[in-house]
Amino acid sequence: MLTSKFSCCLVAHLAILLGLLLLGTCKGQNWSSFQTKHIDFPKSSASNPNAYCDLMMKRRNLNPTRCKPRNTFVHASQSEIQNVCSSKGTHYKDNLYDSEEDFPLTDCKNVGGTSPDNCKYIGTPGTKRIRVACENNKPVHFELVLATL
Ligand SMILES: *[C@@H]1O[C@H](CO)[C@@H](O)[C@H](O)[C@H]1NC(C)=O
Repeated sequence: MLTSKFSCCLVAHLAILLGLLLLGTCKGQNWSSFQTKHIDFPKSSASNPNAYCDLMMKRRNLNPTRCKPRNTFVHASQSEIQNVCSSKGTHYKDNLYDSEEDFPLTDCKNVGGTSPDNCKYIGTPGTKRIRVACENNKPVHFELVLATL
């Protein structure tokens, strides 16, 4: 009785774990997709921050079926950003890490338009700390832009 209860529980837990793993994979949370979505270094040129966002969201194909409501591009090298997961980051909770240093970045917020190629954005440039989720010491998810201390 006890054994079957235990194995049932174990199976349930394994199923949940597998589900979470699949979910993670489906959402494309890996270092490679993080770079596509969130790293633009050196920063691509555009006439202004709004035009920059319109261009980059299209160039990186981030609006395949709908205009992504929000996306942040960080203008720093892969290694600098990767270091947030280790020597240059502070553990926040779970697998989330906060950068110790500010990064130049552009925050893009959708204000209409049509996917895939004509989504309209308001771009806000800034230099801020960032919070990312890490797996195997590499960022796989951009959580948010932190207010500067
Ligand atoms: C990373 O995620 C992307 C987007 O979902 C996917 O196409 C790619 O195969 C994944 N790469 C790895 C190494 O898992």
